[in-house]
Amino acid sequence: MGVDKFRTQDIYKDAGKSVNFTTLLLNRKDQGAEKEVIQDMADRIQAIKRSVTIRSNGASLGIAMGFSRNAWDYLFPGAKVPKELEDFTGIKGDKQDVPAVAADIFLHVRSNDESVTYTVVDQIMGFLRPITTVVDETHGFHYEQGRAIIDFIDGTENPVDEEAVEWGVIGEEDPDFINGSYAFAQKYEHDLDAWRALPTEMQEKFIGRRKFSDIELEDDEKDPAAHNILAQDNRDGVEHKIVRMNVPFAEPGKGIRGTYFIGYARYWDVTKTMLTNMFEGNDKLLDYSKPITGQLFFIPSLDTLDAIAEDEL
Ligand code: HEM
Repeated sequence: MGVDKFRTQDIYKDAGKSVNFTTLLLNRKDQGAEKEVIQDMADRIQAIKRSVTIRSNGASLGIAMGFSRNAWDYLFPGAKVPKELEDFTGIKGDKQDVPAVAADIFLHVRSNDESVTYTVVDQIMGFLRPITTVVDETHGFHYEQGRAIIDFIDGTENPVDEEAVEWGVIGEEDPDFINGSYAFAQKYEHDLDAWRALPTEMQEKFIGRRKFSDIELEDDEKDPAAHNILAQDNRDGVEHKIVRMNVPFAEPGKGIRGTYFIGYARYWDVTKTMLTNMFEGNDKLLDYSKPITGQLFFIPSLDTLDAIAEDEL
């Protein structure tokens, strides 16, 4: 059978101009009633997407929705579990740790029109609001030329096309959950004043690329703890990848400037290895970045969403 890239949710990179990341906790008051709402939503979410896409006239709407391990066990007890879906409890770092924040449901909605993004999240939340509380809601935006808020172009080394499918989508290694994906969502706040006070050449050594042109530095020009050295997962001579779709968020009035990191992966272990390398190796970017949240979610395929809707898991 093999992977079918049309049966996945929207896990390929199209960061969008207006992005909404919402993480929710189920109220855990009435399992049966809450499961019914989730089944209903699994049924409706593609219809919401089709309908809003018709109305939005080319706003490139993308939706991914997922469940944490805790939510999976609560909603679908007795069902099979995606092989790598674990309750993320954090990673011990050297200077700082990767925090874990409990969450059940993850929503990642983006488009090129803020009213479209809003409409979709509001329609989905119309179903979910009565059975959930919000852990975090972050509104991301497209910053100059697709740059990260630290002013470097973000996403250049992302896999694209067939390679994005190869590294972003679960395959035959877990046939029950083929075409799903593992999303790791993590919000960072930056000390942008300190970052901006660095000379450009030093920032470039820390990221491993030129700031204006985005040309990669030679290895001997990079800081040994450069972000693009430590964030890699090279095993057995093979560069293991994930599909990143980070966007900036900000509340400039309060001095809050951050990056919402989102990585979609065929293998959660790859994202986890990248995080471990960064936090154990004191990635230079982390001296200017504080992780605030972190949780792993399974993004079911469209077929698994159908099975949830039909109570067939
Ligand atoms: C603190 C927030 C982060 C920011 C602002 C950020 C920004 C960047 C930038 C500007 C690049 C260089 C261009 C590119 O190839 O995309 C990059 C590369 C990369 N980042 Fe991040 N990143 C962040 C967090 C993370 C995290 C948490 C991971 C992994 C879990 C990660 C994984 C990667 C990978 C795999 C690369 C490509 C390395 C290569 O092959 O050259 N990043 N990031």
